[in-house]
Amino acid sequence: MILVCGGAGYIGSHMIKLLRAEGIDHVVFDNLERGNAPAVKDSRFEKGDLRNRADIARVLDQYPISLVMHFAAYIEVGESVKDPSAFWENNVIAVWNLLEESRKRDIKQIVFSSTAAVYGEPSMIPIPEDHPKNPANPYGETKLAVERMLGGYNDAYGMRSVCLRYFNACGADPAGELGEDHRPETHLIPRVLLAAAGRAPEITVFGTDYETPDGTCIRDYVHVSDIADAHLLAIRYLENGGESNQFNLGSGNGFSVKEVISAAKEVVGHDFPVGYGSRRAGDPARLIADSAKARQVLGWEPKFDDVKVCVQHAWNWMQANPDGYPR
Ligand code: UFG
Repeated sequence: MILVCGGAGYIGSHMIKLLRAEGIDHVVFDNLERGNAPAVKDSRFEKGDLRNRADIARVLDQYPISLVMHFAAYIEVGESVKDPSAFWENNVIAVWNLLEESRKRDIKQIVFSSTAAVYGEPSMIPIPEDHPKNPANPYGETKLAVERMLGGYNDAYGMRSVCLRYFNACGADPAGELGEDHRPETHLIPRVLLAAAGRAPEITVFGTDYETPDGTCIRDYVHVSDIADAHLLAIRYLENGGESNQFNLGSGNGFSVKEVISAAKEVVGHDFPVGYGSRRAGDPARLIADSAKARQVLGWEPKFDDVKVCVQHAWNWMQANPDGYPR
């Protein structure tokens, strides 16, 4: 049985939908601080907090867990700069708690959500997994710290792990059952769609003077369902005895902020207000993944490599759920 920490969140909820579809037994562990209870659907659910060892012990004693997935981190870069303490506690100390309680029970397989933020400002594009790691903010530092912790646990205790470094996760369940509901929302695609829906006065483009063809930042947008597929392959890889490993997850295609806005205008079928503002601190001009390793080693084949499809799925969900999940 799989323990899915953070299974009520954006990516975790898409993961458990896939586990249900595959008939893979699992239990969701989430404190619902940022996750959404309705997104758990009919998966088994245990409320608890990874910062509390007793909560973890209770669940691990109750279920025959053989593999742990971790989606339960704080993710906002700006918030991590303002409040690093909360990030080190929730993204590192809490994971240490999880690893310790797992180790006690001989649970030795971990799939961990990492990020492109471990690389910092890229020195080459596309970015391979062995690119130097120089995180530019506490968020990236905490994710890299856990990757390194997992390296030590592999060597010393034989705990095998797969770290999946997401680039720009986006989109929504193609069937429309799940979507992105962060409060506050900082990500580009949902913010563009809020402007398109008239729920925000405009979408502000953060910087138009980058060294890119249209002057706006280029990102590698990867569909949340493709991310879930990669996790399923990572589970099978570990279950088949694969050694600890790290993989980038990106579509390999870069789209600029202006291109995302144009795609959104096509999807929604009408114009909406766009403002042009100054750069957001810490944004690299271009982030594009080299995801060849995930394709070769895991056999990952992303289905949605066009940002327009990602925007379409996000728009479908937003139209059906204008206020997000019920709270
Ligand atoms: N952007 C705007 N206007 C907005 C919001 C975003 O122009 O209202 C721009 C940003 O400046 C950036 C691009 O759109 O150039 C994408 O921004 P997001 O906030 O959607 O995503 P990021 O690339 O900043 O961050 C993502 C993940 C992080 C992760 C990072 C890796 O959300 O968790 O990639 O570097 F750390």
